[in-house]
Amino acid sequence: MKIILLGAPGAGKGTQAEVISRHLNVPAISTGNCLREAVRAGSPLGLKAKDDMDNGRLVPDDVVIGVVKDRIAMDDCKNGYILDGFPRTVAQAEALEAMGVEIDRVVDLEVPDETIKRRLSGRRVCEGCGASYHLDYKPSKQEGICDSCGKALIIRKDDEPATVQDRLDVYHRQTEPVKAFYSAKGKLFQVEGQEKVEDTSALVLKALEA
Ligand code: AP5
Repeated sequence: MKIILLGAPGAGKGTQAEVISRHLNVPAISTGNCLREAVRAGSPLGLKAKDDMDNGRLVPDDVVIGVVKDRIAMDDCKNGYILDGFPRTVAQAEALEAMGVEIDRVVDLEVPDETIKRRLSGRRVCEGCGASYHLDYKPSKQEGICDSCGKALIIRKDDEPATVQDRLDVYHRQTEPVKAFYSAKGKLFQVEGQEKVEDTSALVLKALEA
């Protein structure tokens, strides 16, 4: 099964992508994580993406399309995958179609902007391995320290309040039209994000069976 998770920054795409990945045993591909890894490694891709990411702008379409094209050609994707954070523009959705990819379901997580701002202010990420935590919803065992690799937890640069507002503006302007693109094809399923992660997961898994 090939699934797209749509939604504003902080809507819970990454969280739900992990749940679906375990449920269907297919990889979850986060373009944000791919780009952050490239930034951490200091690769040419990372150097191209860093400034846009830090400032809440989208990385250019051709760069991200190249990342996804290479990733979905890998062996572990042959039985399907979940795309988390891609496509984010209509041009990216068209490029996916041009690659011959047949998407089965597009799940759109709907969460109000005010809830998103609250959620993102509590997120902490590991500076070493990139693992994600939340002060209230998913705390690390030892405050400020990653459970997996023991490195320090930091605030993601693009989770600063002013940048979160910019990311929301970009989402409303550039990504919301992607919903209409898939709705016209009868593939869009909207899910209201719930206060508890597991309540949202139940709705998402139901949408996949519809
Ligand atoms: P990316 O990493 O994709 O960032 P994003 O879409 O802004 O998504 P987030 O990771 O912030 O949130 P999420 O929806 O995954 O929510 P999460 O599950 O973490 O992209 C980063 C940047 O990369 C972009 O700004 C852009 O520059 C670039 N980029 C990436 N893809 C691109 C593309 N296709 N084109 C161009 N540029 C691209 O949850 C958020 C937090 O809330 C967590 O801490 C979680 O624990 C907490 N939380 C609290 N309550 C709940 C609940 N009920 N459900 C879920 N989470 C909850």
